Amino acid sequence: MTRQPISRRRTLALLALGTASTAAGATGWITGLGAPRRNPLAPADTSQVLSQPEAMASSNGVLDVRLTAAPGARLAGHDTSAWGYNGTSPGPTLRLRPADLLRVRLVNRLDQPTNLHTHGLHVSPQGNGDNPFVTVRPGDSFDYTFRIPANHPAGTFWYHPHHHGTVADQIFAGLVGALLVEAEPDLQVTDDLVLLVTDTTLDGAGRVAPANRTAKLQGREGDLVLVNGQHEPVIAATPGAVQRWRVINGCTSRVIALRLEGHQLTQIALDGIFLPAPVDRDHVLLAPGNRTDLLIRPTANGRYPLISNPYDRGTTAMMGSGGMGRNHSSTGSPVTLATMTVSGPVSASPPIPTTLPAPPVPLASATSQRRLTLAMSMAGMGAMTFTIDGRTFDPERDDQTVALGTTEEWTVVNTSPMDHPFHLHAWPFHVLDASAGTPLTGVQQDVVLIPARGWARLRIPFTDHPGRSVYHCHILDHEDLGMMGTINVHG
Ligand code: C2O
Ligand code: CU
Ligand code: CU
Repeated sequence: MTRQPISRRRTLALLALGTASTAAGATGWITGLGAPRRNPLAPADTSQVLSQPEAMASSNGVLDVRLTAAPGARLAGHDTSAWGYNGTSPGPTLRLRPADLLRVRLVNRLDQPTNLHTHGLHVSPQGNGDNPFVTVRPGDSFDYTFRIPANHPAGTFWYHPHHHGTVADQIFAGLVGALLVEAEPDLQVTDDLVLLVTDTTLDGAGRVAPANRTAKLQGREGDLVLVNGQHEPVIAATPGAVQRWRVINGCTSRVIALRLEGHQLTQIALDGIFLPAPVDRDHVLLAPGNRTDLLIRPTANGRYPLISNPYDRGTTAMMGSGGMGRNHSSTGSPVTLATMTVSGPVSASPPIPTTLPAPPVPLASATSQRRLTLAMSMAGMGAMTFTIDGRTFDPERDDQTVALGTTEEWTVVNTSPMDHPFHLHAWPFHVLDASAGTPLTGVQQDVVLIPARGWARLRIPFTDHPGRSVYHCHILDHEDLGMMGTINVHG
């Protein structure tokens, strides 16, 4: 079988072909995501006050939780058959401290296998830890144990299923939750809010729409963009009173280009890790999986929409904009995520700090270099594949073998006409240089957007946590289609 890189023109033709055969051959949702369809569910909770998922906090160094994944969750003001943890989407917010033990009994009440991943945590990937190779069958449960290292950075992380082949389906169906690591010194703010952004498409009966082949090749995007499961909620604020927003991009494929009308976004953390100092930005770009912590100082009384600007991750070049649903990120219209409503007298708030407790960046120089290539290619008979180094995912194969204790430099190259967000489990990396020329943060992160025909150079310390895990494209349809590799860090 020969695989060859394909041109944009050929890609277009093949995707068109894919659309035609899907429409002809499928039953039920023959148009799939993106095309006009009957009776989409209209949100019933627009402009309600933003609520916070239930919080479960550790005490005396331990957090014991049971998470039951099952159909039935309230989304956009409707009781739907979307999927949740313990009956809600997002699931509970898990609050931990460095050195804590997190024990999760995951109960699978779905009709398909699932498992659990603690995205961004620098923890062991072995055994019943953050192990993406675990399978929890329908009706079964599994006891996970995550030991948070004593020197783990404080910040904003999240959890979601990671069972290869159904990750996008399960996240799109609602299975996500926030996970916070908290440590002193913490910031003095009036409100500390989780904003977990997801997107999905619901039919008139409250069922999550499945994605067709074309939508998966593009990376599906939902018609409804929700924050904590709510449609365009309101964030109440008073002038001058600083709020901390922990924004998590939990969408399966959507890139969020965040901005807040009338305000600067004061960025204090990326992917959970504090920056050395706050940075004022007009907008912050979040690939799927990325998080940012922001400080917002409301200016004057008024209503200020929190917007995701259009962002073309290469889907229009491939597809044209036909066939994309309402609120697709490439269609040119901004999407409102929430509205900050500022009212009341000016209140005094502690000043925004000038420095932040950024963890030190390991500076050991790399002892080996690798190059990884993300590509779209043809595997014969018109089937398009998403590959890393020319191969699709095989859980039995070790793609990268790394000696524990070493630091490596990886150049991740994207030869395809679409952006791919690159994510590595368990071992956060430092972006040294990137083709996009975006300013570097100088701190570690765990998802980096590799633009179409672009690249990024990463330094990754493998100083602790031996074991096998994965790296992949965080457009989770691409991951499910095989754009994932394995890494074995051995002692
Ligand atoms: Cu959030 Cu392997 O992913
Ligand atoms: Cu992850
Ligand atoms: Cu991708």
